Amino acid sequence: MGEILVIGIESTAHTAGVGVFSSERGIIANEKSEYKPAGGGIHPREAAEHHSKTFPSVLKSALKKAECRMQDITAVAVALGPGMGPCLRIGASLARALALKYRKPLVPVNHAIAHIEIARYSTGMEDPLIIYVAGGNTLITTYVEGRYRIFGETLDISLGNCLDVFARETGLGFPGVPEIEKLYHKGAQLLDLPYIVKGQDVSYSGLLTRALELYKEGYSIEDICYSLIEIAYSMLVEVAERALVHTKKKEIVLTGGVARSKILQEKLSLMAKVHDAKFSSVKPEYAGDNGAMIAYTGYLAFTSGIVIPIDKSFIKPLWRLEQVEVLWRKS
Ligand code: FE2
Repeated sequence: MGEILVIGIESTAHTAGVGVFSSERGIIANEKSEYKPAGGGIHPREAAEHHSKTFPSVLKSALKKAECRMQDITAVAVALGPGMGPCLRIGASLARALALKYRKPLVPVNHAIAHIEIARYSTGMEDPLIIYVAGGNTLITTYVEGRYRIFGETLDISLGNCLDVFARETGLGFPGVPEIEKLYHKGAQLLDLPYIVKGQDVSYSGLLTRALELYKEGYSIEDICYSLIEIAYSMLVEVAERALVHTKKKEIVLTGGVARSKILQEKLSLMAKVHDAKFSSVKPEYAGDNGAMIAYTGYLAFTSGIVIPIDKSFIKPLWRLEQVEVLWRKS
């Protein structure tokens, strides 16, 4: 078979993304448009409206970047979940329409698995423990016997959501993580905030509530940011460390929108060093949601024989990553 070209459609949350992966040339397009409401947060119907308005131009520029036409594409991959129903529906409709019109196979992709695979692809790591931190997710996973198994996750809100909401409520703006981390470096005093780890799981909602209370009580924003980051990241590093020891993996990779955090990268790399494990972080251009990760994971799935009939290609807003059989990995 000659060159295989897979186009990937991403629309699970804020991002309308289209990427193209080539079996010969790697990622050759990664275009996106992000829905950015003024106050932060996300309104699913407004985000969906944004996606339906911007997808035509994002698709056009992705094909232009990849220097190909829809006729040249081998398969259409789409993130069917997990994510917000109204947003997922827009990407799924686009992918079905393209598959029908150009008679291409349709490949279902789990968005969380795509964050994992793009991290392995962009770091060259074979079999890492994966720390996946984003606006919608916080979990620790690794490949064991045919699937990515979960070795810890948040019991309530995600780390990204905790930090974004804190930033929004205290007027630091959106996205919140870079702003909070700037103030982190100016903080000096570790304030009393709840450190909540239950077994292998973490909880961030109590931490958020207390941090906001401290802000209202007049504590310095620098000290709160310092304490919030220290506590939130240490909780994650603690469960990641136990997962590393338990699974005996020799590599750790950080992925998802919060993977750009230099402070979290540093904490994880120090922990990795203690256990003689390698640490790496997904390339920044693939950290947030993007179409390239759907195209690449679609390529892995398609070449393992995974396709879905169009009339069965329902969206799956609650699709968990451990439900996916990872047929393209053998070890
Ligand atoms: Fe994501």
